[in-house]
Formats: sequence, structure tokens, C-alpha cells
Amino acid sequence: MNVFIVGGAGKVARGLARLLSEDGHAVRSLYRKPEQARDLAALGARAIQGDLTALSIDALASLMAGSDAVVFSAGAGGAGMEVTNAIDGRGLELTVAAARQAFIRRFLLVSAFPDALRGGERNPGFENYARVKKLADAHLVASDLDWVILRPGTLTDGPGTGRVRAAAAIPYGAVPRDDVAATLAAIIERPDVSRTIIELTSGDTPIDEALARIARR
Ligand SMILES: NC(=O)c1ccc[n+]([C@@H]2O[C@H](COP(=O)([O-])OP(=O)(O)OC[C@H]3O[C@@H](n4cnc5c(N)ncnc54)[C@H](OP(=O)(O)O)[C@@H]3O)[C@@H](O)[C@H]2O)c1
Repeated sequence: MNVFIVGGAGKVARGLARLLSEDGHAVRSLYRKPEQARDLAALGARAIQGDLTALSIDALASLMAGSDAVVFSAGAGGAGMEVTNAIDGRGLELTVAAARQAFIRRFLLVSAFPDALRGGERNPGFENYARVKKLADAHLVASDLDWVILRPGTLTDGPGTGRVRAAAAIPYGAVPRDDVAATLAAIIERPDVSRTIIELTSGDTPIDEALARIARR
């Protein structure tokens, strides 16, 4: 398959590009900073430069033309409310519009658990992040695309285990970015996982088995 990754230089996205390339998929990764191009090529991806805050719907649709699936894994990464609104919010809406214009129906979104706010001190930036992520989910759900929303728990950089807990609603927890990337790669291979929200943490179930249970529902 031809897969277009928005936020392609991000940590989850890099792992996904490597896995998809190893599996024989053609990957195009949207990135911003010139120094990222070489790393992405080394992962097997074709690096496509573009900034979500500068691209029009037409321009992004042209960049992603011919793809079979789009993965949105971009995020402001704590850069402040305005940037969160621009990337996690408007950037997602732009990408949905561009995918529709380019006739790409399959759309995977890396979102966040609504519970991520629990237990911490009240933080306006994080409140805004949770609000924007939820509105982005709602925007995609209201579209006519063949979407999957993946809501990972707290992302960690430890090695993946290939075992997860994944379902429409699960208790909050953490998950290595490697396992998020592996789950996205597995969803790309499973058209029967469609129009569903999946919460994801570390767990005991092999990723393929967890997705098979979701697909059967
Ligand atoms: N951290 C957590 O615990 C957690 C939990 C659940 C979900 N998430 C979500 O999971 C997703 C992936 O996480 P991650 O750790 O892989 O994030 P990451 O490494 O911060 O990657 C996000 C990517 O988005 C890109 N981006 C930012 N602004 C952009 C713009 N204007 N145009 C194009 N690309 C832009 C960044 O580009 P640059 O490389 O140029 O900065 C970066 O490569 C994020 O959406 C995050 O919100 C995070």
C-alpha cells in the first residue's frame, strides 16, 4: 500500500515508517525541518517537506495524491495552546479535507485518551490539549472517511513488547511508542478494523489478536 504520514518526523511516525517500509509498503512522510529528510530516507520513507500551518487543502491533497491511506500523527508537543490549536486541531481538519479531495478514504488518527488529564494539577494548556484532541476526533468521526482513531495512553520510549491492551474503553496506562507504531502498522493491514475508536496501553495480548477481537465486534 501507499501510506502518507503527516507528522512524519515524529517519534511514533518514524517507528511506523520503518515498520511499513520493512513490510514492503511505500511510505511518504511529511516533515518540516531540512535536517530530518536524511533520517526519514534511512527508515525507507520518501521525505516530503511541508508545514501544516502553511499548506492549503489543494497543496496537501497534491502531496498525498495516489496514497491508499493517511496516518495523522502530528502534534504540537507542548508548544503552547495556539500551536496545539493550529496542529492538533486545524492541522487535522486540513488533512481530512485534503484526504477527501485526493479521494483517499482510509484515515488513521493518533489521538489521546480523554482520561489523560486525571490526577494531575489543573493545567490550562493540558485542558486545551484534551479539548482540541476530542474535537479532532469528533471532526473525523463526522466525516465520510474510513477512519480509525487510536488513543494511546502516556507514551514512553522503552522498547515495545508487541503486547497491548486495546479496546473501545480500557483503564488508563502507558504504552511504548514502538507498540503504538506496531499497532498502527497492523491496522494498515486490517481493513476490517474500520470506523472505530481504540484505546491502547501496554497489556498481555499480542497486537494482532487484540485487533482481531476489535474487528469481530
Ligand atoms: N506524549 C504522550 O504521552 C501522548 C499520549 C497520547 C497521544 N499523544 C499524541 O501522539 C502523537 C504522536 O506522538 P509523538 O511522541 O510521536 O509526537 P512527536 O514526536 O512530537 O511528533 C509530532 C510531529 O508533529 C510534527 N509537527 C508539528 N508541527 C507541525 C507542522 N506545523 N507541520 C508539520 N508537522 C508538524 C512535528 O514536527 P517537528 O519534528 O518538525 O517538530 C513532529 O515531528 C501526537 O499527536 C501526540 O499528541 C501523545
